[in-house]
Amino acid sequence: MKQFVVNGNIVTPDEIFEGAVFVKDGKIVHVEDGSVDAVALESEDIQVIDAHDQFILPGAIDVHVHFRIPGGEAKEDWTHGSKAALAGGVTSVLDMPNTNPPTISQKLLDEKRALVGKDAMVNYGFYAGATNDNVEEVAKMTGIAGVKIYMGSSTGNLLVDDMKVLEDFMTKTDHLLVLHAENEACIREHMAEHEGEENPAVHSQIRDPECAAQAVKDALALAKKHKRRVHFTHVSTGAELELIREAKKDADYITMDVTPHHLFLSSKDYDQYGTLVRVNPPLRTEENQHLLWEGIADGTVDLVATDHAPHQLKEKEQIYSKAPSGLPGVQLMMPLLFHMVNEGQLTLEKVVELTSSHPAQKFGIEGKGAIEAGMDADFMIVDLQKLERVCHHYLWSKANWSPFHGWHLKGWPVMTFVGGELRYEWRDKFHEGKGSELTFVNSSS
Ligand code: DOR
Ligand code: ZN
Repeated sequence: MKQFVVNGNIVTPDEIFEGAVFVKDGKIVHVEDGSVDAVALESEDIQVIDAHDQFILPGAIDVHVHFRIPGGEAKEDWTHGSKAALAGGVTSVLDMPNTNPPTISQKLLDEKRALVGKDAMVNYGFYAGATNDNVEEVAKMTGIAGVKIYMGSSTGNLLVDDMKVLEDFMTKTDHLLVLHAENEACIREHMAEHEGEENPAVHSQIRDPECAAQAVKDALALAKKHKRRVHFTHVSTGAELELIREAKKDADYITMDVTPHHLFLSSKDYDQYGTLVRVNPPLRTEENQHLLWEGIADGTVDLVATDHAPHQLKEKEQIYSKAPSGLPGVQLMMPLLFHMVNEGQLTLEKVVELTSSHPAQKFGIEGKGAIEAGMDADFMIVDLQKLERVCHHYLWSKANWSPFHGWHLKGWPVMTFVGGELRYEWRDKFHEGKGSELTFVNSSS
């Protein structure tokens, strides 16, 4: 089957031009400048889609999701997670290792791979999880997107709080290291100070900006010492950003991302959402939120990733000390960013850079991240004028709630294609089809 998507506005990181995308056997075979007579192209074996007044963007790549398989089926699975991704224009995801059991060996990875392959409707890759004693095993692992290192503990029991072990991961493995940078000792100290407090806002004091900055400092010192590629995920404070901005001046091997929740919510929001917005790292002040946007504007922030961390509403509605940390996010990242394009805060070109071309480049994902001949035909069609209220009725994650419920957002993906197949159409139409496992440049797979 061939598809021609014609008369759309094709968005690259550098420009927007009217053109057509020609797809065959799952690949983009040709991109043509200018308008085309859609009717003249129609034939039996060609599906012609007229994207007049709409935008064609490469599929978003979310390098940070928790789709919870195995062991967390009550919170999420790949059928629901994939649908949430597709409705959000996300065509590839990298899945975190804090499952049950955690993905800490080749055997456990291969078991996870077999389960996910059956249900994934988007493309996928996996992280290995680092522990204080599995560096030798991880060094030998193949076919992974990278290694997730929790420097501070979060959901699950993965933790590397020994800087010697972090250094071993840098020197004894050659995988991309993705760091959750919060200092464990710092968190524990504050936890003891706030023992018994149940106001959800205490979360931002327990895991305060100092704990994050300390971990970033420690990791940067080691990365610089070894000139070792590392990626800081969910950077949430101005202080971390400043450390990374400085470090990047002479180190192109350091990259970072921010999440939609840290861009769109702040610690003020505990008043309204309470434990629902308990997340690690926690929500920060509006000042920090503002500094993250500045980091996007000046290019310090390489990409946006969701940290889609679904939990059931009934779990989240418990008192602070019992409520788990994490928010679902994969479905709303693009609409939130498109809204900001309409608000004049971002360009569409920048959105493509943050959500597709940079994730593909910085994570070495083959065949993804651009609308160009030879690339995989993963793309979305976006109606930038569509104004809709976020409603949990149309949220597809098993975590059927969102702090953004009720927000009016302008700019939504209306069609999502994976490997040349139409998988999603606004607002609730999904088409069967499987995702493929991603391949990574430089990874020893
Ligand atoms: O809030 C969080 N939730 N932060 C993490 O680091 C893990 C995640 C989860 O898996 O629930
Ligand atoms: Zn996470």
